[in-house]
Amino acid sequence: MTTKFHSVKPILDNKLKQVYIETYGCQMNVNDSEVVLSVLQPAGYSICEKIQEASLILVNTCSIRDNAEQKIWARIEQFRPLKKRNKSLKVGILGCMAERLKEKLLDNGVVDIVAGPDSYRKLPSLIEALSGGDKQINTMLSQEETYADISPVRMDKNGVSAFIAIMRGCNNFCSYCVVPYVRGRERSRNPQSIVNEAKELFESGYKEVTLLGQNVNSYLWDKEVTFAKLLEMVAGISPQLRVRFSTSHPKDMDDSVLHTIAANSNICRHIHLPVQSGSDAVLKRMNRKYTREEYLARVEKIRQIVPECTLSTDMIAGFSGETEDDHKETLSIMEQVGYYTSFMFQYSERPDTKAAEKYPDNIPHEIKNRRLNEIIELQNRLSLISNEQDVGKEFEVLVEGTSKRSAGELFGRTSQNKVCVFPAGDYKVGDYVKVKVTSCSSATLKGVTV
Ligand code: 5AD
Ligand code: SF4
Repeated sequence: MTTKFHSVKPILDNKLKQVYIETYGCQMNVNDSEVVLSVLQPAGYSICEKIQEASLILVNTCSIRDNAEQKIWARIEQFRPLKKRNKSLKVGILGCMAERLKEKLLDNGVVDIVAGPDSYRKLPSLIEALSGGDKQINTMLSQEETYADISPVRMDKNGVSAFIAIMRGCNNFCSYCVVPYVRGRERSRNPQSIVNEAKELFESGYKEVTLLGQNVNSYLWDKEVTFAKLLEMVAGISPQLRVRFSTSHPKDMDDSVLHTIAANSNICRHIHLPVQSGSDAVLKRMNRKYTREEYLARVEKIRQIVPECTLSTDMIAGFSGETEDDHKETLSIMEQVGYYTSFMFQYSERPDTKAAEKYPDNIPHEIKNRRLNEIIELQNRLSLISNEQDVGKEFEVLVEGTSKRSAGELFGRTSQNKVCVFPAGDYKVGDYVKVKVTSCSSATLKGVTV
């Protein structure tokens, strides 16, 4: 996902302090960029729409795969001519790539500031210190930082749906993954600050919050507020506020969360439950800490307790040592679960991870590519099957905007997280609308209001 926050009106009319922010990567980064703006606002910065007008360019970066980093390196090069034209322009690299590469980012002469995910409070002083002539770097990871007291400046355009970070970091150390190294140890955020943020959002017109964490099911505050309890607290704000969450680690997804979902109709009927591979041998090398059978038992429980729930997953093709049989097991688990959508990737070796150390990146690119294409093709088929099952059924859709294809149509999502398009009538963004599905493609449901 690439989000560019440049269509929001300046908060302060200060021509000298205009910041342009680009965000790459996951939803957590989108939320972090909002935290960054919230930190910069009191220092006199306003967001600007055009990069040419910026006095400061910030890029919030992603390191999850090599191609994400390559894209950002290429983007940094594009700032060089801008800096030639505007000698006072400063460039800051934030987020995971800042944490991973540290001073290496300063070598190219374009970047002035490097700030890791736990350093955003320091941004105003880092910017200030640039006037001394030295480039600035802060990549200290913290055991405590959750930005709990910071109200992120919302930059989404629809004003309907917002992200709330409930925890930071990750302790799981999946062998392929760079996240625990660049985002540090897992820490949960004070539940009262989460509930307050959700309440404020609801009171200012938002209708949906997504609780974010690398592994939300291991959320724990003061040994007593579990994720199930937190979900219940947020869902209790109003039946008119939808609650979503992401991501769930299958090893930590317990029944209490499922019962909480079942008991609260405003907790959305969708669980993102990344399986990564269908083969026990691969799962073991990935250090996922569950077997295929255990994963399927979780899915069975979800089906029992929340029967109307959809499931989505992340898949990695071509991890170290993956045989053709392992790959077939991945295809078969996808078919068995019937995911309505998936995020699908080729394995990309990340320096300094356990996999880079222990397991050679030994699947040729063409094979990774072919396996990934088979996974994508299968997912398209499964998405269509899942959507076809909804034709004839009624769903409550939360309207998010006007359809890109036709001004006479609105789009929104069902509780199951499926995009649904229908004739606008007198409905508007933020409304809950009952829609009967009349047709579908693999990506979208189409319907009429009832
Ligand atoms: N290579 C490919 N995909 C990866 N992911 C994480 N690390 C890697 C990697 N090294 C994927 C996983 C994870 C998602 C966020 O990104 O599927 O769930
Ligand atoms: Fe990475 Fe695994 Fe943590 Fe997800 S749970 S962020 S894949 S280490």
